[in-house]
Amino acid sequence: MGNSYPASTSRSAELHQRGLAVIPDGVSRSTVIIRPHPIYIDNGKGAWITDVDGNRYLDCNNNFTSIILGHADPVVEAAVRKQLSRGTAFSMATEAEIELAEILCTRISSCEQVRFCNSGTEAVMGAIKAARAFTGRPAIIKVEGSYHGTYDHAEVSLGPDPSNWGVPDTPSTVPYAQGAPESLADEVVVVQFNDAHGAVEAIRRVGPRLAAVLLDPMPSRVGMPVLDPTFTEAIRKTTREVGALLVLDEVISFRLAYGGAQAVHGIEPDLTVLAKIIGGGFPVGAIGGRSDVMEVFAAVQGDRAAVPSGGTYTANPVTMTAGVACMRELEEPSFDRLDDIGHQIRQGLKVLFEEQSIEWQVTGAGSLFRIHPHQRPIRGYRDAHHDSDEATVMASLQRRLLEREVYFSGYGMGCVNLATSDADIDHLLTAVGEALDLVH
Ligand SMILES: Cc1ncc(COP(=O)(O)O)c(C=O)c1O
Repeated sequence: MGNSYPASTSRSAELHQRGLAVIPDGVSRSTVIIRPHPIYIDNGKGAWITDVDGNRYLDCNNNFTSIILGHADPVVEAAVRKQLSRGTAFSMATEAEIELAEILCTRISSCEQVRFCNSGTEAVMGAIKAARAFTGRPAIIKVEGSYHGTYDHAEVSLGPDPSNWGVPDTPSTVPYAQGAPESLADEVVVVQFNDAHGAVEAIRRVGPRLAAVLLDPMPSRVGMPVLDPTFTEAIRKTTREVGALLVLDEVISFRLAYGGAQAVHGIEPDLTVLAKIIGGGFPVGAIGGRSDVMEVFAAVQGDRAAVPSGGTYTANPVTMTAGVACMRELEEPSFDRLDDIGHQIRQGLKVLFEEQSIEWQVTGAGSLFRIHPHQRPIRGYRDAHHDSDEATVMASLQRRLLEREVYFSGYGMGCVNLATSDADIDHLLTAVGEALDLVH
């Protein structure tokens, strides 16, 4: 066993105490909380990260799927260093913004134009506002359990449980943050992933008030189920029928293929939301799509656009330069290698479960995988939702993996980067094999 986490005398524990005095929870992201205390990182290189106590971890999270080449990739680093010496942000435009937009429009067939922002949350919010402005309608439909960032409307029904999720055909709209306005229930309608019939019914029902359906084609919190093409085909057909837009959230799924998940599944969205990997490791978001829809962001007919958008650090040249360098590194063979790494991991996990006669399963695609501590067939959120025993076993798996030099999410989601070697894959599978012995 390699690592000493957790240790009450560690530097991470000490930093946590110091952080608690000035930051609620001692950290600014709820998602980095691990009990008994968060891990504070010193550095990362390639597939590995090292904490402030010198513990090393094979990174199976990659900053929530945003790192794709590897930590401290030398090509991105060189490009960013060059830009740093020329200035980091100006109150005027730079060429790097156009370069990154050109790359994205070339790779993503449904995107004729792109507009940048600073995070996926902001991009989802911008896409919803664009859909409302384009259609003149207020409501959206989203999938139960699907994460789209922290905008109130997009956060609805992110974490419902059997006590409040309602009937399967018409799931309840469950606000996420306390204090969210009750009017959300009028503006957000929830459907289940892969439920084509339910989606068609909802789209027709909300029809005249519906601006858009917001869809992540491989939602991690929904369990990374296999997308049923009849679901997306039904949504595409019916949104067109009622004059609503399809907004595809490719914030994570863009890492699945050169042209994103829409290329893999043949989906034709009106708007696409991007973030994470397109910033090469720096904060970013983008909305792309058909130019007639994207025109809502342009001040063509007066002083003000239908949807004014901006932001102090939006399209800053450091992020744009890093994004360009990262995208140029990521050619078709990179995705073949990512598929291969992910395939070896998913297969290896299946073999481990079989060998140890454990009734678990793994879902995912490309560089993404999700471990489920049960064998319920996974079509949507309700199948993947953990009861309290399952949540406990997954937290315990995370702890046992940390001891064995693997950093992996507490709910079963894993993500690897291109720097992951075959030896790293062996390391992961050995660690999981040993950890399963202890947690099961
Ligand atoms: C599918 C999806 N959409 C949107 C977001 C929000 O992106 P950000 O964290 O950059 O705000 C995330 C973040 O994990 C995501 O997974």
